[in-house]
Amino acid sequence: MKIGILGAGQLGRMMAISGYPLNHQFGFSGNSSSEPAALLGHMFTQENNIEYLTNFADVITYESENTDVEVVKKINKNVRVYPSEKSLFITQHRGREKALFEQLNIPCAPYQIINSLADLKQAVSKIGLPAILKTATEGYDGKGQFVIRSDAQIEEAFASMNGAESILEGFVNFKRELSLIAVRGLDNDHKYYPLVENTHHQGILRLTIAPAQAIDPEVQKTAEQYIQTLLDAMDHIGVLTIELFETDNGLMVNEMAPRVHNSGHWSIEGANTSQFENHIRAISNMPLGDTTSTHAFSAMINIIGKLGPIERVLKMPNAHLHLYDKTERAKRKLGHINITANSQKALDFSLQQLQDFLPQ
Ligand SMILES: Nc1ncnc2c1ncn2[C@@H]1O[C@H](COP(=O)(O)OP(=O)(O)O)[C@@H](O)[C@H]1O
Ligand SMILES: [Mg+2]
Repeated sequence: MKIGILGAGQLGRMMAISGYPLNHQFGFSGNSSSEPAALLGHMFTQENNIEYLTNFADVITYESENTDVEVVKKINKNVRVYPSEKSLFITQHRGREKALFEQLNIPCAPYQIINSLADLKQAVSKIGLPAILKTATEGYDGKGQFVIRSDAQIEEAFASMNGAESILEGFVNFKRELSLIAVRGLDNDHKYYPLVENTHHQGILRLTIAPAQAIDPEVQKTAEQYIQTLLDAMDHIGVLTIELFETDNGLMVNEMAPRVHNSGHWSIEGANTSQFENHIRAISNMPLGDTTSTHAFSAMINIIGKLGPIERVLKMPNAHLHLYDKTERAKRKLGHINITANSQKALDFSLQQLQDFLPQ
């Protein structure tokens, strides 16, 4: 099949890399021919690039929840877009996302939509402090967020949103951050990856350990039930990711993404079928692949800002380097390193060797 991707970043790049062995071809729409996926297929950068992509493709998907819903609606008149515009519409707005969690009885932090300073003052008095103010749309890697710790910060927090609609969330005292990736096929098959543990630094994911250690099977099952409910409610086709907080009172869902996710990059070498291949299989009506992890431990380290000592990675037997063809820039995701190990000791040893890639 000819698969069109709205966007040409690293996620599109890795989807294409996983899709060629299945005999698919790829096209991308984007702004410039120097984007990470640009050389992996037809790259449409001209003024009517969406039209060209639509003419090229048998099916279309997207890389980002910030994709314009109107664009997807228009494409859908000619070519199917998966995940559907319903998934996109809900997941691109934190308020709509939280409303769906509530409607489906999925635990999440208390929240309130904020459109004025008065709204914010009222919400703080109801939710309490600390709390996090987040832009309702377009936030990623911790951008567009303000942690309010005292009443004195309310006005500053409001001003930092620059008039954008926002959402105030109660601060969750979590033990760990986890995520779950699932995929639903056109044949209504559902598959789930194991829960993984994520460590963030300054809002950016730095390390994923897969599977997350010491997870009770009941907890895995609960997370799968949450995501299954979401997949079915949105009639979602493709990969869906939920980010979770592990707390003393069980799991809480933080947010979701209608796409392959940074916390699933480990699956390229660490699972029988990667998240990228499964997304492509799902949207192209192929049977879903097995999601079982192939090693007792996998880890994914993001390469952020600077490339660092990548030669060292290439010399390690159990490490795999994935670069995205991007130039160095502060806070930019340039690539990642996947590690596979069959014991905690081997994992710790490998992580030790790659300390330079992790924040201190
Ligand atoms: N309600 C909350 N309580 C505590 N920490 C939070 C809360 N919401 C977000 N965070 C922290 O901020 C990080 C980024 O927030 P998130 O909502 O995931 O936004 P983004 O879209 O930037 O990933 C989370 O991974 C978590 O570490
Ligand atoms: Mg997040």
